[in-house]
Amino acid sequence: MDSFVKVEAYLKEVEETILSHEEEIEAFRIKYLGTKNILKSVFEEIRQVPNEQKKAFGQLCNAVKTAAETKFYEAKSKIDQAKLNQFEKIDLTAPSIPNLLGSRHPVSLIMEEMVQIFEKLGFAVEEEREIEDDWHNFTALGTPEDHPARDMQDTFYLKNSVERLLRTHTSPVQVRTMKAQEPPIRMIAPGRVYRNETISARSHCQFHQIEGLYIAEGVSFADLRQTLSHFASEMFGATQIRLRPSYFPFTEPSAEMDVYLGLETERDQRLTKGTGWLEVLGCGMVDPVVLSQCGIDPEKYTGFAFGIGVERIALFRYQIDDIRLFFENDTRFLRQFRASHTF
Ligand code: DAH
Repeated sequence: MDSFVKVEAYLKEVEETILSHEEEIEAFRIKYLGTKNILKSVFEEIRQVPNEQKKAFGQLCNAVKTAAETKFYEAKSKIDQAKLNQFEKIDLTAPSIPNLLGSRHPVSLIMEEMVQIFEKLGFAVEEEREIEDDWHNFTALGTPEDHPARDMQDTFYLKNSVERLLRTHTSPVQVRTMKAQEPPIRMIAPGRVYRNETISARSHCQFHQIEGLYIAEGVSFADLRQTLSHFASEMFGATQIRLRPSYFPFTEPSAEMDVYLGLETERDQRLTKGTGWLEVLGCGMVDPVVLSQCGIDPEKYTGFAFGIGVERIALFRYQIDDIRLFFENDTRFLRQFRASHTF
C-alpha cells in the first residue's frame, strides 16, 4: 500500500477512535505512542518516498502522532477525573470508624494522684535532669567516694565518665532546690530514676520516685509523721502506718514507712510477703551536714525528706504482679487503664 494512504488511514483511525475504558486507553497508547508504535515502521518508509514529497510525508506522520497524543491525554484525564469523583460518593449515613482514645499510663496515673495529695499541702513540684553528676547524686547527700553506702545503689555511668551518671534516685533534686532557694522550702520531685539491676518481675533498671522535702524553722519528726500519715490515708485509705528505723546517708534519724493494706487477695499476700504491710517509702530528718553543704544554716533550719517508690504502689493498686509490664508498652496491657481515673 502506498505509504501516504497508510498514514492517512491511521490518522482517520485515530480521529475516529472512541476511548472510554482504561484498557482501551492503554491499548491505544501502546499502538500509537509506545516504544514499538506502528508509526515508527511507517516512518521508515520515508526512504521510498520521492524527495519532493518527503516533507509532506513527515508532516503527515507528525500529525498522526499529535492527534494520538491529544486523544490519549484527553481520554486519560477524563478517566482520572471520574476516579476522583468516585470518592465524593460517600455514604453519609454509614457508621464512622471509632476514634481510639489513648490511655494514661498506670504509673502516670499513680504519680499524678500522689502529686495532687502533696500539692494540696502546699508542696511545689520541682523537675530536674535525669543525667546527674556524682556530687549531686552522691557526695552532697552524704555519700563520698569511698563510702560503703555507694554500694546500696548500682549506678549507670555515662560512657568514659566517672562524673556523669543516670540519677539513681530523685534525692539530688533536694540538693539542687536547697542550693537555689531560701527556706522555707516545701517541694516534691516526681521523676524517673535508673539502677544497674537485673530485670525481674520485682525490679527493673528504670523506675519512678517522688521525692519530698520540707525545710523551715522548727520542723520536727512529728511533722514528718503527720504529713506521711495524711498521705497514707489519702492514697490508700490506710488507717495504720508504721515507721521502722533505717539508714540513709543523708537523713538522721532515718526511717522506712510501711502502710497496712491487709491480706484480702492472693496478690496482697505476695506483695506484702504475707504480712499485710507494704513498704512504701524511705524518710528522715535532713542531716545537718547535708543542709550546710547546700548552703542552708543548720542552726536555724531543720527539715524532713522522703522518697516514695511509685511502681510498687502502682503494682498494688492495680493488682499487677510483674513490674516489667510497665515498661513493655504492650497496648493490650495499657488499654485497660483508659478509664481508670479522670483528673
Ligand atoms: N533516695 C532514697 C532511695 O532511693 C530514698 C529516700 C530515703 C529519699 C530517705 C529520701 C529520704 O528523701 O529522706 O533509696
